[in-house]
Amino acid sequence: MNKILTLGLIMAISISKYTAKEGMWLPLLLKSLNESDMHSMGLKLSADDIYSINKSSLKDAIVSFGGFCTGEVISDKGLLLTNHHCGYRQIQSHSSVENDLLTDGFWAKNHSEELTNPGLTATFIVRMEDVSEGVLENLDGKSEAKKKKIIASRIDSLVKLNTKDNEYGAYIRPFYYGLEYYMFITETFEDVRLVGAPPSSIGKFGGDTDNWMWPRHTGDFSIFRIYADKDNKPAAFSEDNVPYSPKKHLPISIEGVEEGDFTMVFGFPGRTQEYLTSYAITQIKEVLNPAMINIRDKSLKIMDRHMQASDKVRIQYASKYASISNYWKKWIGENRGLQKANAIEMKRQKEEVFVQQTQGMAEYDGLMEAFEKKYKAIEPFALARSYWIEVPYRKLEFVTLASKFRGLVDAVLEGKETDTARLEQVKKQIMEHFKDYDLATDIEISLALSKMYRDGLSDEFVPTSMQQADAGIDATIKRIFEKSVFVQQEKLKSMMENFSNKTAKKLASDPAYQLMDAYFDIYFQRVRPSYSMLSAEIDSLSKIYVNGLRKHVPLPYYPDANSTLRLAYGKVEPFKPADAVDYDFTTNTHGILEKYNPEHKDFVLPSRLIELIEAGDYGQYKNKDGSMTVCFIASNHTTGGNSGSPVINANGELIGLNFDRNWEGTMSDINYDIDQCRNIAVDIRYVLFVVDKFAGATHLIDELTLVKKEKKETEEKALLDEN
Ligand code: ARG
Ligand code: GLU
Repeated sequence: MNKILTLGLIMAISISKYTAKEGMWLPLLLKSLNESDMHSMGLKLSADDIYSINKSSLKDAIVSFGGFCTGEVISDKGLLLTNHHCGYRQIQSHSSVENDLLTDGFWAKNHSEELTNPGLTATFIVRMEDVSEGVLENLDGKSEAKKKKIIASRIDSLVKLNTKDNEYGAYIRPFYYGLEYYMFITETFEDVRLVGAPPSSIGKFGGDTDNWMWPRHTGDFSIFRIYADKDNKPAAFSEDNVPYSPKKHLPISIEGVEEGDFTMVFGFPGRTQEYLTSYAITQIKEVLNPAMINIRDKSLKIMDRHMQASDKVRIQYASKYASISNYWKKWIGENRGLQKANAIEMKRQKEEVFVQQTQGMAEYDGLMEAFEKKYKAIEPFALARSYWIEVPYRKLEFVTLASKFRGLVDAVLEGKETDTARLEQVKKQIMEHFKDYDLATDIEISLALSKMYRDGLSDEFVPTSMQQADAGIDATIKRIFEKSVFVQQEKLKSMMENFSNKTAKKLASDPAYQLMDAYFDIYFQRVRPSYSMLSAEIDSLSKIYVNGLRKHVPLPYYPDANSTLRLAYGKVEPFKPADAVDYDFTTNTHGILEKYNPEHKDFVLPSRLIELIEAGDYGQYKNKDGSMTVCFIASNHTTGGNSGSPVINANGELIGLNFDRNWEGTMSDINYDIDQCRNIAVDIRYVLFVVDKFAGATHLIDELTLVKKEKKETEEKALLDEN
């Protein structure tokens, strides 16, 4: 490749792939890396208004909600907004058949009606710090193992130092495969109460059918409140706690969005892998995703049939079905997106540029060949790992249950004392397991998936009892379901009431337990050791690769998501998913009525919502033409964990609540493409309309800081008049 072509390629890549809109940026580097870019895209604030340790900034309104989602503070009394699907578990935990908060929604009329949620936390980031130098100094010449040990001990002492004599927490995470390390100082509140949630027919409208899809009409929000002690500090739940008074809460714009508006998403994205090579993408697309999609496809079909046939099973398997289907659908979208974007070829071209740019540099010599070799080596183990996680570990339910007994049984067999706390925990798990368990469903899934597992892997990864023709597997599984106590709640429960050495020995010889044991042996002896070793080696190569990219292929780089606080920015913009199809950037309430179907669980509606929409009764939340927006899309780079993140406008005001991505763009975790990747948010005005007009919870609206254009205009005019 000649020099001009190389440069042309870099430019093509930087224009098509590395526009400023891709990326999840570190808040403390915004000033140096992104501020001018964001200004040119329309941001009116300074980087300091977004992240500062000297004054209150937007980051003081953002929390990690329970460690798996994001939330934001929207009032001076600690009111917290997140998604309905993020608060789902809590909403469910307060629900019963008589008082079904999931179906009917919930609105606390005053502080005393707000519901406590043991175990739920809200964590603020007090500050973050680049600690790379201290963590990485003087490591040259040491072995990898030695380096790892030294780094771990340095991290440990830094965390101790920073959490000594204060109420804060701290963690340090590697970035760019360990080229850099950042420390996060945190403040965690433990008294977080449920304040409000719409009925699922609003909060989960569209259900699994619309999941990962645009156009969307879901009011995916729920409202909580952070409580603190009298000194405004974190405290365990107490009647004496009071609403938290935050350093910052987000003002809310009710002006609505227009195409091209600047947007940013501030939150805790979980995991992305943007620097994978073409070898990795090929493996994901051609080998791992198809295997996992097929397995889930099979189990979903079986589950669905049993759920359709019985209301009891339908309720029991609702949440299992939703969680299996969530990533099943995501992987399908990911593969289609990779195909359409020609992602493998694009990655290959980038690698060619890299090789060209680093020619003659010893440290990068043969790097791509090394990647190719390692991915070839890891493939059978990666595939076995996927099969193992997807089949015995998660979907043979009797295996999942039996695996919970391993510690207890092993201790007895090794002549150790029984851990009574563990015993109690296991007894509780038995109850939970059988509450949502259907024998006929488990049998059918076990029969089908055991065969898929056998067919998908070579014999060394298959338990001997499962290396049989179909009839043999049928017989083995049937025997388990006839004989095992792990499919008989009462028998298992009573055995555990008088747990003794004899019980442990009996459990150990149970056919379900033995099959579980065989599967676990395979994983821990034949899969995991090689898989871990090879992935550590791939990580080391990736570190060299990313280092080389940053030094020799000059483009803006951002670290992969790792559940730390990030800012993504972009614009409200439509996209074109397919030939002859154009997607608008907002959806409207009349679309809710178009999707309405009282016969389909995903598309039922509360009659009150239908009335309000038919009457056009939207109050101050409507558009200028009297219509009402429900959701909008924007080009912000987001991933799982960004659920509940605020979508913020150029003035730092809340305009939406992030909750999903479009199907065509789910590949953004490994291959962001500005043409196809959008985040989906519910318009904040639809949220407020539901709270205010639908639920009549006007006392909550009164707590908020609403920003209206007319008000701003009069203020501006007054200012002009004064001067
Ligand atoms: N796809 C979104 C996410 O990854 C939403 C999932 C919850 N909604 C649902 N219909 N299952 O979490
Ligand atoms: N629904 C996802 C979540 O729970 C966010 C969507 C995504 O993966 O971007 O975090």
